[in-house]
Amino acid sequence: MKIVWRCLTLLTATASTLALVAAPAAAGSAIVGAPGAGDDYFPLAGNGGYDVSHYDLDIRYEPATRAFTGAATISARATARLSRFNLDLRGFTVRSVRVDGRPARFDRDGQELRISPRSGLSRGERFTVSVTYDGTTGRPTDNTGALYGWVSTPDGSFVANEPEGAATWYPVNDHPTDKASYDFEITVPAGKTAVANGEPRGQYTRDGWTTFRWHAADPMASYLATASIGDYDLRRSVGPRGLPIIDAVDRDLGPTGDDGLARTAEMIDYFGQLFGPYPFSSFGAIVDDDEDPGYALETQTRPIYAGPPSQSTVAHELAHQWFGDSVTPARWQEIWLNEGFATYASWLWEEHTGGRTAAARFASLHAQPETASLWNPPPGDPGAVELFAGSVYNKGAMTLQALRAKIGDAAFFALLRAWYAGHRGGNVSTSDFVRLAEKISRQQLNGFFRTWLYTPGKPTTW
Ligand code: ARG
Ligand code: ZN
Repeated sequence: MKIVWRCLTLLTATASTLALVAAPAAAGSAIVGAPGAGDDYFPLAGNGGYDVSHYDLDIRYEPATRAFTGAATISARATARLSRFNLDLRGFTVRSVRVDGRPARFDRDGQELRISPRSGLSRGERFTVSVTYDGTTGRPTDNTGALYGWVSTPDGSFVANEPEGAATWYPVNDHPTDKASYDFEITVPAGKTAVANGEPRGQYTRDGWTTFRWHAADPMASYLATASIGDYDLRRSVGPRGLPIIDAVDRDLGPTGDDGLARTAEMIDYFGQLFGPYPFSSFGAIVDDDEDPGYALETQTRPIYAGPPSQSTVAHELAHQWFGDSVTPARWQEIWLNEGFATYASWLWEEHTGGRTAAARFASLHAQPETASLWNPPPGDPGAVELFAGSVYNKGAMTLQALRAKIGDAAFFALLRAWYAGHRGGNVSTSDFVRLAEKISRQQLNGFFRTWLYTPGKPTTW
C-alpha cells in the first residue's frame, strides 16, 4: 500500500490522537507514512509508505506467567520518501527500535508505533527495522468481543489474528494487502511445543527452554500468521504430490482429537482438481484443547482449531488456503470472497462424499422466511461489526450456487479455476470477480450480484 500524508507546512506537534501530524523535519517538509492502509472498516489497520517483504520474529514465552519477550526484524522497502513511518503494535513495552542497525526515535500513540529514522528514507529504498519489546500477554478481543490475536491459554497460546489482531503480538503492517514471508524462532519451557506457519527448521533445548524454528516462505497476510504454544504432539504425513502435512494435536484431547483430520490428503486432492494446485509448501492443523475462542482460523498452511474440528470445518479451512490465503481480499469489506467461497467448498466436499448436494443445501436455506437472520447484512458490505455474520458465510455460499445454476457448471468451474490462476498470491475485489464471471459466462451479471451481495433481505428473482 502506498498512502502518504504530506505535511508541507511546519506544524507544531500537539498531542494529536489522530496521529496525522508529522513530527516536524528540519527543513520544513516532513513526509510521514499514513497511520492506516486505507481500509474503511479498520482505518488504523496497516500503515502507508512502505511494503514489507519479510518478518523475522523471535519470541520467548512462559505460559505460567504469560511473560513475553519479542525481537522483530522487518525487511521492507519505502514506497515514498519518508521521515517517519508507523508499525502497528498493541500493548508491551518497546525497549528499542533500530533502522538499518542505527537507533531510531520512536513514540507510541494507541496501536501506532511511530518511528523516525536518523536520516530519512528515500522512495524505493530497502531498509530493516528491528524492534525489541516485552510484556505480559492477555486475552485480547476484537470489535465484537470475540477472543483473537495472542490469546493466552492455561497451557500456552491460541494465536488467530483475523482481522487485525496480529498487532497484539508483533510490530506489523497489519493489513492483508502487505504480504510477506516469515521466520519464527519461538522459545518455550521444555516440554511445551511451539507451532507456526510453514515448515519446521529444527529445535534445540538448553537450560530448560526449547527453541522451535519455523520457516514460512510463501508470502502471507498478517491475519494468517500464528505462533501457537501448547502441549502438542507433532505428526508428519504426506499429501498429494509429496506435500508435507504437519499436524499439531493437543495431547490432552485423547485418541479422537484428530478424527476430523483423517481425510485431509483426500480433500487436498479433491480441491486441487477443482480449483488448481494447492497453493503452499505444506499443510496441517493445530488442534487445541482450549475451546474458549470458539472458532477456527485458516492460518496459512496450518489452520488452527479451538477444539477437535468436524470434517466439514477442516474442508472449510482447507478451501481458505486457495480463497483467502492465496487469493486475498484487498479490503475487509470483501470478506465474502473468503467466507462465501470456503463455505461453498465445504458444501462441495459434503456432496462429493455422499452427503447433501450443494443444490439441496441451497434449496433448504432458500426456504427460510424473509425474516430469517440468514439474509442480512448483505455479504458484499456487511460492515466491520458484522464481518463474520452468518449471512457472509451462507448467503455468500448461496450466491455461488445461484451463479452456478445461472451460468452452468462448465462456466462456473472454469470461473473458479481462472479466479485462482489469475490472482494466486495477490489481492482482489468483488468487482474483479464480477468482471471475470461476465467474461467467462458472456452474461451481464451486475444485477445478479447486486441482488445477492448488496441488497438486504431475501432474493426472490435474479
Ligand atoms: N475466518 C474464520 C473462519 O471462518 C473466522 C474468524 C473469526 N474471527 C473473529 N475475530 N471473530 O474460518
Ligand atoms: Zn472461514
